Amino acid sequence: MTKTAFITGASRGIGKGIALRLAQTGFDIAFTYYTEEAEAKAFQAEISKLGQRCFYYQARLQETDVPERVTLKAIKDLGHLDVLVCNAGKTTFTNILTLKTDDIDALYHLNYRSYLISTKIAAKHMVEHGIKGRIIYISSTRGIRAYANDAVYGSLKAALNRAVQSLAIELAEHEITVNAVAPGATAIKGDYSPEALRKGHLSSLVPLKRRGKPADVAGLINYLVSEEAAYITGETIKVDGGLVLYGPDETKKER
Ligand SMILES: NC(=O)c1ccc[n+]([C@@H]2O[C@H](COP(=O)([O-])OP(=O)(O)OC[C@H]3O[C@@H](n4cnc5c(N)ncnc54)[C@H](OP(=O)(O)O)[C@@H]3O)[C@@H](O)[C@H]2O)c1
Repeated sequence: MTKTAFITGASRGIGKGIALRLAQTGFDIAFTYYTEEAEAKAFQAEISKLGQRCFYYQARLQETDVPERVTLKAIKDLGHLDVLVCNAGKTTFTNILTLKTDDIDALYHLNYRSYLISTKIAAKHMVEHGIKGRIIYISSTRGIRAYANDAVYGSLKAALNRAVQSLAIELAEHEITVNAVAPGATAIKGDYSPEALRKGHLSSLVPLKRRGKPADVAGLINYLVSEEAAYITGETIKVDGGLVLYGPDETKKER
């Protein structure tokens, strides 16, 4: 039976890279988009050309009933579900002195609550059908290292990293694994040439001297869904070129 994957937020950026890589591996794909209908349609055509079935849905995932509805739809269209990748999210910085309650709620609903609701639906389906599935959350190195103006986004990503640990324990008896992948500074605009990735101050701060690209994240996902990764669960794995390895350098003398 052809393996299947449902990826949220795959009309562009990291999610698109993940969906493309899984399609190239032979997965049938279902994915969501929010605003970029033309991109989603073109991407469906690209996946179809690879010989894989592909379904896409418009979804505003912070709405109460949308994550459940769209996950059920993906399972129905695909016929069964082997892999869930929760990726859709908004990246923001918020200052505590100007923070709006609505902004906290919107980010919580999209970047955290929608992940758990989709997981509930997917896990229930996998358990009922004896599928040794894979559930993967796209987190961030900002959930690992603290930055100013990051008490909302960074903390929600940290919560995802913690959630996969509990979910991994809960679903282990069904041989379903649950992991998080934490990208660092990742280019998402489409120019992934070595020159483009090396440009800019941020790239110079990365030990590997470039920003990441969606394919860097997708390569790890492709491994995590493979048979070889069946014994990895409850982990948060960074894909950041070493970005958050640095701490203060105590060996440096005062100038
Ligand atoms: N890029 C980075 O440097 C980086 C680093 C660490 C972690 N991440 C994480 O990686 C994930 C993907 O980010 P990205 O950088 O690839 O972002 P992106 O290019 O902005 O893509 C975000 C995806 O999510 C969808 N989306 C946005 N708002 C939505 C909403 N309210 N409801 C449903 N879908 C929505 C978008 O759909 P439309 O395009 O159709 O609107 C798009 O498909 C996020 O969880 C982000 O936090 C990114």
